[in-house]
Formats: sequence, structure tokens, C-alpha cells
Amino acid sequence: MEITSTDLGLAARVQQLTKTYGAGDSAVRALDGVSVGIRRAQFTAIMGPSGSGKSTLMHVMAGLDAPTTGRAWIGDTEITGLGDLDLTILRRRRVGFVFQSFNLVPTLDVMANILLPFDLDGRRPSALERARIDGLVETLGLQARLRHRPHELSGGQQQRVAIARALATAPDLVFADEPTGNLDSRSGRDVLRLLAEASAQHGQSIAMVTHDPVAASYADRVLFLGDGRVVADKPRQTPEQISAHMLEAEAVAR
Ligand SMILES: Nc1ncnc2c1ncn2[C@@H]1O[C@H](COP(=O)(O)OP(=O)(O)O)[C@@H](O)[C@H]1O
Ligand SMILES: [Mg+2]
Repeated sequence: MEITSTDLGLAARVQQLTKTYGAGDSAVRALDGVSVGIRRAQFTAIMGPSGSGKSTLMHVMAGLDAPTTGRAWIGDTEITGLGDLDLTILRRRRVGFVFQSFNLVPTLDVMANILLPFDLDGRRPSALERARIDGLVETLGLQARLRHRPHELSGGQQQRVAIARALATAPDLVFADEPTGNLDSRSGRDVLRLLAEASAQHGQSIAMVTHDPVAASYADRVLFLGDGRVVADKPRQTPEQISAHMLEAEAVAR
């Protein structure tokens, strides 16, 4: 797929991305010519075997990592070549990121972690934002944990704090790397509903990496990565269809 001109229907896009880690004999090509867009107000799942480049793609799309070659945009702003300060401000205002490793600040309690995006932007949440944060805290079942620090929480609770933090400012664009990986099926479902609602009702654009076909079935669109390339791009699928596709892709790779 070639994306050459500005497309207002896309919240983020990348063109001909490659990313190589290391050099010489130990070089690993994590992305190998990826051109793809994340559509506005859609929930997109990104699937693929371990090591297929999912996390690398999300990091480059969110401006957390630079590609080796190729270009990336957030909305109409090209982020490849943008200076650190401009990039940081753009990301802070428009992008929420749920890291696979959570990235919570160990010295801050849960509430302070959730409010971190506001602190970094040098402002306090408005009354409306405060109400929104209270809603997130409730949906994610974190009410009784607000004064706890990350090390006092289970992996699943830490993951939910990371999700609340990513959604707190209601960013246009949310990237979530395996956001349900540590959750039991019930809280996993709550998180998936929250993400689906964020796109369908609030017009946010969501990209979620997952290897769970049930999780991916909540998305409007499923992208499959294999060996650093986009190998399929499908509209909403049932968990059964997604599983079948994954098995097929793994059989081809073998
Ligand atoms: N910082 C890094 N240094 C070296 N190799 C890396 C680094 N990050 C990822 N890789 C390699 O790049 C490939 C893609 O990794 P990643 O994007 O994390 O895949 P996924 O998220 O699909 O599991 C893998 O082979 C991985 O080992
Ligand atoms: Mg990963």
C-alpha cells in the first residue's frame, strides 16, 4: 500500500519504514518496508508472532523511536526529522501510550502516575477532565488503590494504571502494547470495551498490539505483521477467523 498524500482520514501513518537494530552480522531488521495508516475514530488491532515487529512499529508511529529509513506522520505533522522538543510536545498533547512494561514511576502513587501527563504539560486537569479521570478509575477498578505505589500492586493492577494514564488526557491517538496481557478475562473485557468506546463514542483513534484473537475481535480492523511486514489487513473479524489466520500465517512462516 502506497500512501503518498495527506489523508485527513488517518490519525497516523508511516511510509516505507525500515528499522534495523545493530550492525554487521548481528543486525536485526525489525521493520522491512511498512506503509500503513491508522484511521481516525477506529480501533485497530495489530497482531503477529513474537518478534514480528509490532512493538517497534508502535514506537516509531508514536515518535518514541526513529526509523532507520522511511517517514512517519501524526495527523498532518511529519514526525521524522522533527526536533526533540517539538516531538515531545506533540506527543504529550496528542498521544497516549500503554507500554508492554507499564513504565510507571515507582516513587509516585497511583493517582500521581495517572496525573503525570498533566504535570508534564504543566497544567492541572479541568473539572471535566477530573470527572473523566474519576470515571476511568472506577471502570478500571482502581478506587481503593489510588494512594498505593506501583510495587504494592499486582501486574494486572499496574497495567490498569498505565491504561488510565494513557487515556487521562483523552488523546486523539492511543497506542497500547498488549494492554490486556496481564489481566484476567473479566478486567480484560472491561479494558477492551473502554478502548472500543474511546473510538466509537469519543472519536479517538486506537492502535492495540495483542496476540489474543478474542481481544483483536473487539477491533474494527486487524493488521497482521510477519517478519517486519504487513502481511494482511482485514476488517472486523470473529475470534475464530483471527485464530485461523494466525495459524495459517505461522504455518507459512515455518
Ligand atoms: N532494542 C533492540 N535491540 C535489538 N534488537 C531489538 C530491539 N528491539 C527489538 N529488537 C528485535 O527486533 C525484532 C522485532 O521486535 P519487536 O518489535 O519487539 O517485536 P514484537 O513486539 O512483535 O514481539 C525482534 O527480532 C527483536 O529481537
Ligand atoms: Mg512486543
